[in-house]
Amino acid sequence: MDFKIKNKTALITAASQGIGKAAAIELMHEGCRVAICSSNRENLIKAADEIKNITGSEPFWMVCDINNSADINNTVEKVIEQFGSIDILVNNCGGPAPGFFDEINDEKWEDAYNQVLMSTVRFTRLALPYMKKNNWGRIINVTSLSVKQPVDNLILSNSFRSAVTAFAKTISQQYGKFGITVNNVAPGFIRTSRLDELANKRAEKTGKTPDEILSDMASSNPLQKIGSPEDIGAAIAFLASERANYLTGVTLQVDGGQIKSTY
Ligand SMILES: NC(=O)c1ccc[n+]([C@@H]2O[C@H](COP(=O)([O-])OP(=O)(O)OC[C@H]3O[C@@H](n4cnc5c(N)ncnc54)[C@H](OP(=O)(O)O)[C@@H]3O)[C@@H](O)[C@H]2O)c1
Repeated sequence: MDFKIKNKTALITAASQGIGKAAAIELMHEGCRVAICSSNRENLIKAADEIKNITGSEPFWMVCDINNSADINNTVEKVIEQFGSIDILVNNCGGPAPGFFDEINDEKWEDAYNQVLMSTVRFTRLALPYMKKNNWGRIINVTSLSVKQPVDNLILSNSFRSAVTAFAKTISQQYGKFGITVNNVAPGFIRTSRLDELANKRAEKTGKTPDEILSDMASSNPLQKIGSPEDIGAAIAFLASERANYLTGVTLQVDGGQIKSTY
């Protein structure tokens, strides 16, 4: 299938590792001009090198702490200087702190608010005028299966990703007339450093080993496995594509069937 997005410009946030990096690789395979950012220069240099080895070209990259609005302004400004526009925006972020309600203080709530919700709001606000001008745009937010089925010890993720979902649905209604679609990809268990962090945390609480926790996750899944970052990257590339042009305001679960509800 030809996704018809060759030469489109894409900014993927929090993309030095895991799902963000996989999305960058998929979009580069589709011929997009890709910019990535994350908070750590060494991670970005390593990621850019890996991506070049896989795709044959290096993404444009910038250091950006997505919790910081000045960094976000600066990043979008640099991408515009480099590419002239942003056609595809993938709003990804690091996972918010895990924990039950009684373990999360105000500082953690405020961090997660900036990290998950406000980073999405701020990048979207800055990218939308370019999409409007071109009468074409794709905004894809990486959320979580927690928006369909909250995870007990992830109260920050459950709360703010639901806010992102409502935000996405709202602006999808408002900006559809400009050829802009806004969708979410909700990953299930995906083998990245985030999942390792969650498995370690759960292992501490249950007395199991992290490997046992990961193996329990796999066996609880209808497909009997944990997903890969490439599984999410492929879904993001599809939603970014011209072929997904009549698809907006949805949350696409990529979870191997983990969520058992029918909607
Ligand atoms: N993996 C799963 O099973 C799963 C399931 C559901 C939802 N999710 C969600 O999907 C998102 C991506 O997950 P992942 O598994 O790919 O995580 P990951 O492998 O841990 O990658 C997280 C990325 O976020 C970047 N990052 C962290 N803090 C940042 C900051 N302040 N500013 C800019 N970049 C920052 C990291 O780069 P630097 O360290 O270089 O900054 C890294 O590139 C997360 O929000 C996660 O909660 C993941």
